[in-house]
Amino acid sequence: MTVTAGATRVVGTEGATATAVAPRRFPVGFHWGAASSAYQIEGAWNEDGRGPSIWDTFARTPGRVRNGDTGDVAIDHYHRYREDVRIMADLGLTAYRFSTAWPRIQPTGSGPVNGAGLDFYERLVDELLSAGITPFLTLYHWDLPQALEDEGGWTNRETALRFGDYAAHVARRLGDRVEFWTTLNEPWCSAYLGYSSGKHAPGRVDQAAALAAVHHLNLAHGLGAQAVRSVVGDAAQLSVTLNLCAVRAASQSPEDLDALRRIDGVANRLFLDPMLRGSYPADVLADTAHLTDWSFIREGDPATINARLDALGINYYTPLTVAAPDGSGHVEAVTDHPGCGDLSFPDVDLPRTIMDWPIDATGLHELLMRVHRDYDGIPMVITENGMANDDYIGPTGEVHDPERIQYVSDHLDAAARAIADGVDLRGYFQWSLHDNFEWAYGYGKRFGIVYVDYPTQKRTLKASAHWYRDQIAQERGLA
Ligand code: NOJ
Repeated sequence: MTVTAGATRVVGTEGATATAVAPRRFPVGFHWGAASSAYQIEGAWNEDGRGPSIWDTFARTPGRVRNGDTGDVAIDHYHRYREDVRIMADLGLTAYRFSTAWPRIQPTGSGPVNGAGLDFYERLVDELLSAGITPFLTLYHWDLPQALEDEGGWTNRETALRFGDYAAHVARRLGDRVEFWTTLNEPWCSAYLGYSSGKHAPGRVDQAAALAAVHHLNLAHGLGAQAVRSVVGDAAQLSVTLNLCAVRAASQSPEDLDALRRIDGVANRLFLDPMLRGSYPADVLADTAHLTDWSFIREGDPATINARLDALGINYYTPLTVAAPDGSGHVEAVTDHPGCGDLSFPDVDLPRTIMDWPIDATGLHELLMRVHRDYDGIPMVITENGMANDDYIGPTGEVHDPERIQYVSDHLDAAARAIADGVDLRGYFQWSLHDNFEWAYGYGKRFGIVYVDYPTQKRTLKASAHWYRDQIAQERGLA
């Protein structure tokens, strides 16, 4: 099989030894990685003093997660991290993005540190460093200590202050060996899926609460960045990871363009503007005035949120086309985007992944160009990109996932085009290294380049992992 992927021809993608014949060019020092998060892979939910998180509670609540799946065991990375780092080294990854679990480090989200929790991350980081892999540490990937949720979670300002303390604890232990720090992963999900649509933990359905959560997450980002910087100093490279919505208007009509403005405001600018410009977008505050008066924003908060960042992390999977409701398309009162009102999502003629997410790599190029243009050329890292697939072990013991190879190849082409067009892009991380717990979908959706047989925990490299290894070697001039 021969696949033409933008500027790059990929040959034999169904085989384990696929080779790209016209490699893309990325800057020297570009980070080639894969990503994960604590709750999705670690397991060991009650070991070594770990406290409960909102995801433990949510996953145990009947009907919240498909099949009743939980992260109790996940892929047992807590006990198998050495084997997993060996896999990363075999693939030639130069970087690995993971998150620390707040409830392992502070079981109730505040107060004394659980040394055993920090010990685990110290062992992991040391293992990575001795394998020559650069750790990219994310401080928060959705596993809020349950005790903080009991006090209001992200709707409570206090949670942001506690996050600053927690960040300082992690920085004190690991700041001498971790250079790349990310405060939050996808605060959009924490705020809107957690507090507005209720699809994620803690499962609340309250649009005003979700907007308060946005502000307190933004504030936590600022306080966390400040804490890491004050402990580690300028050696720390600071960032935040956003799942910006690569939104397109269905037409250039004023109504559709206004639909675009509204969703872009709530999904994107409500995070980007305070973080990178130090102010909230006035149009979004006005659009949401019927839900909240935003009086939880205190004097000085915007300046705190506007912490100096070295790079912005971008998670990209799919674009979204939006229109004003006009009787066509799929009309929704958009609970994922509080204050947007009714919008229409016209069907787009694109292939889809098993998440039902349309595949279109040009959306990644558009998104990178837009952030570059609107936010002063800030350096960026693609901290997640990848696809879920119905992968299985074939009769010969191999996993053939040509769709994923095509997907990644197309997105790397798009990233390379953005670099050629002036974007300061510094790394690319696949989501995910392993198949893992896909939140409300449980284990049913496989995003990994490494297949995990859950009953035995056996890891098997998929064809895409072999292909990625070859790509990395070529891009780095090692092949
Ligand atoms: C974004 C999240 O950061 C990650 O946890 C999730 O598994 C992937 N996207 C895929 O949905």
